[in-house]
Amino acid sequence: VRTEKMNVAIDGPAGAGKSTVARRVAAELGYVYVDTGAMYRAVTLAALREGIAPDEADKLKALVASIRIELKPGERGQTVYLNGEDVTEAIRGRDVTLIVSPLAANESVRAKLVELQRAMASERGIVMDGRDIGTHVLPDAELKIFLTASVQIRAQRRYQELPAEQRIPLAQLEAEIAERDRSDEQREISPLICAKDAIVVDSSELTIDEVVAVIIDLSRSKMAEA
Ligand code: DC
Repeated sequence: VRTEKMNVAIDGPAGAGKSTVARRVAAELGYVYVDTGAMYRAVTLAALREGIAPDEADKLKALVASIRIELKPGERGQTVYLNGEDVTEAIRGRDVTLIVSPLAANESVRAKLVELQRAMASERGIVMDGRDIGTHVLPDAELKIFLTASVQIRAQRRYQELPAEQRIPLAQLEAEIAERDRSDEQREISPLICAKDAIVVDSSELTIDEVVAVIIDLSRSKMAEA
């Protein structure tokens, strides 16, 4: 039986439930949860504040070289800091959501964040969620999950999570999610694809509890294998 800790990679499209599931899996295993989407969101917030557009590569390169992004595990999940400021809520705004995907396609942004992510995972015992964790960031992760669900189901889930003042029509949300999938899947660097050795879990017909149970079972069998 494996005694040292594993790394678990959870990838998949927006709204499949990755962050909720990854946070719970980490808590059950006693591991640290790392939400890499939050890191791309923090860079996006910094770019918005500086008035830098996703296609301004030189400015983005200078920006990522000058900012500090930190994730700290806390009682209510993970707190995200940008240059020491708590931006956990600010990075969830619609302004950020609308341009995070084109910004995440930038080479310097990805290089910087991937380096930070690998450093965080070096001590193991990490559950990391994102788009390219199993394929690129942690290709040696012991367990790789590709968590997906239909676009319709993902849009409905997001719709229910939106605060009243941010309500937009369901059809528009569905179109935005489909567009973000397309952009994440088709970018040149580290596109969203399922790693060859990942296990696909479709959450369309499953509750959060069921998805968490499936992944915990898979981690226990991985640990027993070793
Ligand atoms: O998971 P999320 O919706 O918070 O992610 C925000 C965006 O960041 C998403 O459009 C894709 C991008 N992202 C990425 O390119 N690579 C990752 N590892 C995580 C997120």
